[in-house]
Amino acid sequence: MRFDIVSVFPEFFSVLDLSLVGKAQERGILDVQSHDLRDWTDDPHRTVDDTPAGGGAGMVMRPDIWGTAIDSLMESSQGRRGSRTILAIPTPSGVPLTQRTCERLAQEASQIIIACGRYEGIDARVSEHYSSVGIEVLEYSLGDYVLNGGEVAAVALVEAVGRLLPGMVGNPESLVEESHGAAGLLEYPVYTRPQTWREQAIPPVLTSGNHGVTARWRRDRAIEKTAARRPDMMRQLDSASLDKLDKRKLASLGWLVPAQADHPVPMNARVARAEDIASVAELAAATFPDAAPDYLSDVSIQAFIAENLTPDTFTTYIHSPDWLTMVLVDPCGRIVGYTLSLVPESDGVAGRDEGAPVDAVVGNKARKGPLVELSKFYIAESWRGSGASTMLFNATRVALLERTGEWEEPYLWLGTNARNKRAQKAYKALGFERVGKRTFTVGEQDNSDVVFARLLRMA
Ligand code: ADE
Repeated sequence: MRFDIVSVFPEFFSVLDLSLVGKAQERGILDVQSHDLRDWTDDPHRTVDDTPAGGGAGMVMRPDIWGTAIDSLMESSQGRRGSRTILAIPTPSGVPLTQRTCERLAQEASQIIIACGRYEGIDARVSEHYSSVGIEVLEYSLGDYVLNGGEVAAVALVEAVGRLLPGMVGNPESLVEESHGAAGLLEYPVYTRPQTWREQAIPPVLTSGNHGVTARWRRDRAIEKTAARRPDMMRQLDSASLDKLDKRKLASLGWLVPAQADHPVPMNARVARAEDIASVAELAAATFPDAAPDYLSDVSIQAFIAENLTPDTFTTYIHSPDWLTMVLVDPCGRIVGYTLSLVPESDGVAGRDEGAPVDAVVGNKARKGPLVELSKFYIAESWRGSGASTMLFNATRVALLERTGEWEEPYLWLGTNARNKRAQKAYKALGFERVGKRTFTVGEQDNSDVVFARLLRMA
């Protein structure tokens, strides 16, 4: 692979004689030549720029000088078998340079001419001309900031592409797990001796010798880091590459993977506001029949909805200090899940008349603290299995903990239809245990419910 770098500061590139790139040059894997653009001028002042057409500040680099320079560098490589020249132009208005592009260049190019602009840049006809005669022109940017010229970006391209060439990196495996690799995640944090440095120990899993646990730990850290620093990368993650534990980690960070989606989506779980009332009532009316047992008549179901799940009732819930309504909102602002909880007086029992498990034994211990009722908990069907229920439940728990503040050992309880095994399984997965039964009336019909409870504080 040959790089020809053209600049008005050719001495800049002596850095490329150092380190791995320098060694690769010695070993013949890479050939980097830098050239002075002024060598292609034909006036005594060696002028490379002129004033901008249409006016404005600064100077623009002349296309005629660049054309002569690029033509002569292309000619010098022409005729070699399998040669493929790419013209790379660093510019803050270029496409962001990515690892994928570097991989492709390493595979496809035999010569990369890098045209380093200064001042206000290179006359736009240079790029247009070479594209129009069939040369691939890559106008690339290092990032959303402005450098004084393309030289630093040229060095970056040589190093990023050069290190991918066969024979460059001693251990090709070290290329596999790095940031921007195939996994689509940033790299996990790394550590080495000393074991403790400035009172910080190496995370114990890394010295446990357990490869499975270490791999999981690293993957969780990579997911956390990517979610915190690069939401744009999270949106591009391939759903098919994510296992159950990945999805659980993602859900704890607010990213869900719905059944048919190619990529994770960022979700928001928050306290419901007045403007949510119509949507919550609509979702509540749509999801209530889903969870009802088959034997319940439409009349009973509709009677229940008309009495309990209307915009009016939700208006009361949302404005009442005793109730907490939480919603799960997708990136388009649609409400896809909600919970409704009833908070008792400081040490009381919420839902005493609804069958609250006052005598419950939870975790082999008789209940001591107050009982908060999780009265409703629904997720729209298309979001089930995506981690939505875990995310909404955790947000509800955090909000309830804020409300119950200093209370000693508050509990959360709920009733669910005895035939709804799916819901029971889901509640167990959320840390609930079965503590009793109750009768729950829908319309005119009585139903057997099972009652579940758990400590509010337990993680
Ligand atoms: N030239 C000036 N700023 C640049 C940037 N951000 N990326 C590439 N080339 C540049």
